[in-house]
Amino acid sequence: MQKIKIFDTTLRDGEQSAGVNLNLSEKLEIARQLERLNVDIIEAGFPAASKGDFSSVQKIAQMVKNCSVTGLARSVTSDIDAAWEALKDGAEPRLHTFLATSPIHRQYKLKMSKEEVIETAVQSVKYAAKKFPIIQWSAEDASRTELPFLAEIVEKVIQAGAQVINLPDTVGYGTPEEYGMIFKYLREHVPSIDKVSLSTHCHDDLGMAIANSLAAVENGATQVEGAINGIGERAGNAALEEIAVALHIRKDFYQASTRLNLQEISRTSSLVSKLTGMVVPANKAVVGKNAFAHESGIHQDGVLKEKTTYEIISPELVGVQSNSLVLGKHSGRHAFKNRLNELGLNVPEEEINKLFVSFKELADRKKEMTDYDLVALVLDKKLSE
Ligand code: KIV
Ligand code: ZN
Repeated sequence: MQKIKIFDTTLRDGEQSAGVNLNLSEKLEIARQLERLNVDIIEAGFPAASKGDFSSVQKIAQMVKNCSVTGLARSVTSDIDAAWEALKDGAEPRLHTFLATSPIHRQYKLKMSKEEVIETAVQSVKYAAKKFPIIQWSAEDASRTELPFLAEIVEKVIQAGAQVINLPDTVGYGTPEEYGMIFKYLREHVPSIDKVSLSTHCHDDLGMAIANSLAAVENGATQVEGAINGIGERAGNAALEEIAVALHIRKDFYQASTRLNLQEISRTSSLVSKLTGMVVPANKAVVGKNAFAHESGIHQDGVLKEKTTYEIISPELVGVQSNSLVLGKHSGRHAFKNRLNELGLNVPEEEINKLFVSFKELADRKKEMTDYDLVALVLDKKLSE
């Protein structure tokens, strides 16, 4: 079984979500929870970006003991120096440096030739290698980069001292097949590729961040980057909890696992949502309010007979106490009777059918039937007797 490292960027790319601004104590609280979740690497911020970012990366690096802490740096010595100052007291200081490689970025943003991009990347990695024991190098916009050029620059930064090569789908443009092929191509065309770990970093602009990340794993990535609840630039990063649970539930297919403490997922998601103010959609996979809620009668009946009929993830796996059978107009008699019993409302069997008719009439007018509605129905029936 292949071990997949989880690189959490909730505090860096995640904090780049429009409207999100975490203060130091909030960042420390999230970092502590990420440590409990057992992620392998926490990207705590971008030390050169601001004094606040510098000091939060520094404090997190000093506090966290059970995972590696990293910080982002552009390919400039001042950024690398700032990152070193912030990270040097950490348990395992690790630099994450990057440079864009795609033709669009080279021409319009960097205004650099291919040769200049290679030279800049190589020099920055060599400079960083004098300080940092571990260097991750990212080819920003890798998924829109010519493959032969990507292979050439990756080989040169490995020779310069990078130990982790990250291939971001920066603008969420790739499709799973295409993105997976990039990893395969590099494994076949970069002579030194076996000396490094390959990492995936996907954005969700076309809703394919999870599928793309998993395609990368199928093609040799051994590190997955993402953010809790999928927060991040624009449509966000790949949601780490979804990747970890997908790998766990489908280990038969992926033959890979993470060392995440999955029971901490729900707590981590709630904390990140509370502190960032980014509400988790009810239907979001794994951590949405409805992820373990069954509404239709057919599903409720199935789940009451045997959970696995409609539940591929047990709620307890991710730290949710139990599933919920939400009563509404689609619910069936089985779930209705079950809930009455749970509430201690012992309605004789011969009365259930009549009461169920009243329940359906009321449910047709309401979005969701609460326990109070059920109590009211039973009392109403008693009063009319
Ligand atoms: O999306 C991206 O390309 C990034 C890099 C800085 C790694 O976040
Ligand atoms: Zn990103």
